[in-house]
Amino acid sequence: MAFEYAKRIKRLPPYLFAEIEKIIREKKAQGIDLISLSIGDPDLPPPRFIIETLKQEAANPKNHNYSFSQGEPDFREAVAGWYKRRFNVDLAQDQVVALLGSKEGIANIARAFINPSDRVLVPDPAYPVYANGSTILSDGKVVPMPLLEENGFRPDLEGIDAKGVKMMFLNYPNNPTAATVDKKFLKQAVDFAEDNNIILCYDNAYSEITYDGYCAPSILEVDGAIDVAVEFHSLSKTFNMTGDRIGFAVGNKQLVSGLTKVKSQIDSGPPVYIQKVAVKALSAYTGEEQPDFLKKNNRILQERRDMLVEALRKIGYECDKPKATFYVWVNCKGDSMRFASKVLDAGVVLAPGIGFGKFGEGYARIAFTQPKESIIEACNRIAAAFR
Ligand SMILES: Cc1ncc(COP(=O)(O)O)c(C=O)c1O
Repeated sequence: MAFEYAKRIKRLPPYLFAEIEKIIREKKAQGIDLISLSIGDPDLPPPRFIIETLKQEAANPKNHNYSFSQGEPDFREAVAGWYKRRFNVDLAQDQVVALLGSKEGIANIARAFINPSDRVLVPDPAYPVYANGSTILSDGKVVPMPLLEENGFRPDLEGIDAKGVKMMFLNYPNNPTAATVDKKFLKQAVDFAEDNNIILCYDNAYSEITYDGYCAPSILEVDGAIDVAVEFHSLSKTFNMTGDRIGFAVGNKQLVSGLTKVKSQIDSGPPVYIQKVAVKALSAYTGEEQPDFLKKNNRILQERRDMLVEALRKIGYECDKPKATFYVWVNCKGDSMRFASKVLDAGVVLAPGIGFGKFGEGYARIAFTQPKESIIEACNRIAAAFR
């Protein structure tokens, strides 16, 4: 028997990473040795104190009941405390909601505010969830905002036709381009959202993965942001906890409340013991500065970044050293699928830019989420492929 998919499912484009995973599985089944630099899942472990806290909290039988959809009060308090210390932003408890990873919140926010055919501004290239899991699965209409290299991979806000637009996604430090922004740009974005009555969803998942002294801002640091914006955060990248599924959304009270309403009909909060671990993790920030664990983590990533960029330059691919994220966005001088498949034949998996949107064509994203030795070997293989 075959059942017909809902129209919204049929509208979904294929999910790039599912396709890549399938190719990896097939190649591995054929015994081919592959180095995967395609997916943003850190190879580095969570800090030891996280594992110890997790063991302790998971061993407590009281931590295995359902948790509140909005998140446990101590978790929300810890998030508010972190915002104060890290960004000097004041948040009340009802301006915070716990998420089962930020992806879930990014997808569910549209369910709370998007009606069929509402237009949603989505960066292109971008993390695919804004367009797919969020907008299309809520029957909204995706309006791409090109992120062009000549504009520093920022959307041209002045050139946007905002008619019928209800929501907009922005993400800096950016995946996949690794571009960063300053508060001046964020102020322009907030003004644009205010002037056009648009909900501004700001994805700050990479705010802590930074190099060369760069410190990523929160959109909530900007005047007026609290009237229009909700910011998504995650412990996935900051604490190498991608599989633990814990994140949060903060900001405008009505936006947080809308998201909570949807969530309360779909799931409960993240496991209580994971929220307790998150409290401990966030409290490692005693001031504005990053905790020692993170400094060490970012030093390792920075060393890999430098090595990768220098190796790519030697092979003939010019690219900037990113100030944040663990991605290099390289101009591959042509068809990105062809580039990726040539590299794949040489035993290296990377993400073709076209998978992040039309304006990602001509680029490839390389994640430095593998040990140094693997990155060196991957670069040798890429060099051999293009010799
Ligand atoms: C830009 C961006 N936002 C959000 C996420 C989701 O992270 P998580 O759901 O693990 O919090 C990712 C994951 O790769 C990402 O790249």
